[in-house]
This record gives sequence, C-alpha cells and structure tokens, in this order.
Amino acid sequence: MLDLSPRPGDLSAIETASRDEIAALQLQRLKWTLSHAYENVPHYRKAFDEKGVHPGDLKGLADLRHFPFTSKQTLRENYPFGMFAVPHDRIARVHASSGTTGKPTVVGYTKKDIQVWAEVVARSIRASGGRPGMKVHVAYGYGLFTGGLGAHYGAEELGCTVIPMSGGMTERQVSLIQDFQPDIIMVTPSYMLAILDEFRHRGIDPRTTSLKVGIFGAEPWTNAMREEIEQDFDMHAVDIYGLSEVIGPGVANECVETKDGLHIWEDHFYPEVIDPVTGDVLPDGEKGELVFTSLSKEAMPVIRYRTRDLTRLLPGTARSMRRMEKVTGRSDDMMIVRGVNVFPTQIEEQILRSPGLSPHYYVELTREGRMDDMAVHVEAAPSSADAAGREASAAELRKHIKDTIGISVKVVVAAPQSIERSMGKAKRVVDRRPKD
Ligand code: DLL
Repeated sequence: MLDLSPRPGDLSAIETASRDEIAALQLQRLKWTLSHAYENVPHYRKAFDEKGVHPGDLKGLADLRHFPFTSKQTLRENYPFGMFAVPHDRIARVHASSGTTGKPTVVGYTKKDIQVWAEVVARSIRASGGRPGMKVHVAYGYGLFTGGLGAHYGAEELGCTVIPMSGGMTERQVSLIQDFQPDIIMVTPSYMLAILDEFRHRGIDPRTTSLKVGIFGAEPWTNAMREEIEQDFDMHAVDIYGLSEVIGPGVANECVETKDGLHIWEDHFYPEVIDPVTGDVLPDGEKGELVFTSLSKEAMPVIRYRTRDLTRLLPGTARSMRRMEKVTGRSDDMMIVRGVNVFPTQIEEQILRSPGLSPHYYVELTREGRMDDMAVHVEAAPSSADAAGREASAAELRKHIKDTIGISVKVVVAAPQSIERSMGKAKRVVDRRPKD
C-alpha cells in the first residue's frame, strides 16, 4: 500500500497546535455555545434553569459537567425545528436521521455550519491520505442522511474531484470505479463488501482497481474487517465517525499513518465520556458513553449530547487532538445472552477468523421460556459452500464464540449470496423476542 503520510505543510495550524492552545479555543467557544443555546433555544433555557445552572457558571472546561444532558428523546420532543437557535431564514439546509422507531430527528445548518462541516470532512479525508486533485467516489447515500452530502462537500473543499454516486446500483458502482479510476471511496464498510462481491462476480481482481483509500463509517466495524478489506483491495481502510445531531460525518477520523483510533476534531466538538448509568464524567482512558458538545454550530448547538456510542478517550498521537477508540458498539446494540453482554462486532471478529465464511452476517435473538437464544446467520465462502464445508465452518464458529465470548449459540451457515445486502448501514440484529 502507498505511503500517504502527510508531508510538512500539509496540515492546518490547529492540527499541530499545543494542548493549551486547543483548550483555550475550546473554552472560548464553549462559553459562546452555552450562551447561544440558553438565549435562543427554549428547551435549553428551561433545562439549564431546572438544573440551576447558567452559562456564566462555566469558568473552566471541567465545569461543563454541571450542565444537563441532551438525548435523542429531547430532539424528538422538539420535532421538527424546536432545537434551532436561529430564525428560519438563516437555515440553509436540514437533514434527518430515520431512527428505528418513532419520529425522525431533524437537524439544521446555517451556511457557516455547512462551511465548518465541509472543513472537518476535508480534514478527515486528508487525514485518511486524500490530497487535492484526487478523485473521490462517494457511495454513502445522498438525501436526508448526512453521509452522502457530508462527504461530498468535504471532498470538494479539499480540492478533490467528486463522483456523487450515492448508495445502491452495485453493478454500476463497479463499472464506474473501473471507468473513472477513483483514488478514494467513501462508503459504509458493509456496502463495500457488496461491491467486493460484484467485482468477484465479474471476474475482476479487486486488487487491481485504482482505489488507494477507503473511508468507512456510519456503522461499527472491526479491525479484523479492516484487515480483510485492505487485503482484498490492496488499499488503506480508515475509520470516519460522526452523527447527524453533532454535524454528520467528520466529527473524528483516523490518520492513515497510524490507524490507532480516531482523532476527534476537538476545535469544533468537545468530547466527554460518562458512566452511562450514573452520568458521571469518567477520566480519559476509561470506557463509557461518548457525549459531545458542539463548539461552533450556529443553527443547532448541542449541549452534552448522549451518543449511546461506547468508547474511551485517548491522548493524541499523529495529531495533538485526542483520539477516541474505534467504536465497536452502541448501548442500543448490546445483547444480553444468558447473562453475558455481547455486541455484534464481537461476533464479526470471530466470523472473520474462519476462512470458510464470508463476512455477511446477522444475529437473530429469540426467547424460549425465560432464556434468550442467539442464532448467528452467516454466509459460506464460495470455496467451502458444499454441505460438509458448511457444517465444518459452523462447528468452528460455534467453538470460537464459545471460547472467546463464553456463550453457546446456534450457527446457521447459509449459501453464498443468500443474506440480504445493505446499501447503507447494515442491520446486524433481528430481535424476535416477545416484547414485554
Ligand atoms: O452515520 C454519519 C456518518 C455518515 C458517519 C457517514 C460516518 C460516515 P447517523 O445516521 O446520525 O450519522 O448515525 C450516527 O452511527 O451514533 C454511531 O452509532 C454510528 N456510527 C457512525 N460512524 C461510526 C463509526 C452518520 N465510524 C451513528 N463507527 C453514531 C461506529 C459509527 N459507529
């Protein structure tokens, strides 16, 4: 794989700023954000008043812990535009996330917010190894989802040529990669696997494509999956993180030269990690729920937004800004099987150990009496798709899961191409347990 480390002069000043400089900027922006939210969003005024805090109480960054949290529920209660802090004629765009239940959550941007968003995505693409002049194939969905347009504006901001492909039409994705010769692809990791299948189906060796870097996010994926994709495509695979409520993609990104977790663009997004049960702020290095406060957003400032993503904060390496460990689970995705906490990514890691299996899978939960049962549905690799091969792979995966996670599961090894492909975020858990 190519060496795409940044050269001297590639980075912006803030990316190499000292911790003191970063903290000073954060404090100044945080004070502005708290006042802006308090003065312009009735919800924040009420929530601050109820907690007995006022924006003026924030003297240092650590004082943020006294301010109330914001959750997805808060956004739903203020649907559609109740969290906006500027008049409607200043809202340049809205996006929305579908959510699995209930109303979508709606987010808004001023022109300046869109510019900041483009800048953090441009920074993310550069951290991934992107440079002006490269061609970027965007296969995140365009529309209300922030993935497509977020990636698009960022790539343009960096000075790249954008190929706004959006998700779906897998055959066409492959044709255009062959014809347009992009350097970078931005897509969910699960959809990249569908594209991989299509290359193979056409008898094209995916290692021969023009792609040098894949920037994958919008869903959890493992380092084992990274190795698989890097090997299959002979390209770098880096992680991009973000969420609509905070801005969209580009809140944090890995650096291609280290691939050791995601640097949070702390000049715009202030992270905390809390104990999800007590709400207490945890010291850096301890795992808990990630919480973000926006530092520069005008249209929809968010104060202490609970992401439900589980991770820990780590010191900077390739950049001075802190890192977050790769998110391998959301509290929503945690399954409890016979008393053991399990995330789909733990299953993914074990699937990728078996050469007889493809990384297309989902987990089905059922309940027999008071006991929860888990069945892992996974596809056989084409090379071991006969009955004996499938049985051997199933037994191997059952054993790996038992030995590493400590639970007994049913494994169903299905024929190649039989598990539905996602065009965007993969659905990893099918819950058939009765609702109580
Ligand atoms: O998924 C924004 C995005 C688009 C990020 C494209 C990266 C690339 P939402 O639809 O609001 O926004 O979903 C946000 O997706 O809270 C995480 O649970 C999950 N997520 C996003 N990126 C990652 C990642 C976009 N790199 C939710 N690793 C977040 C793990 C991720 N989970």
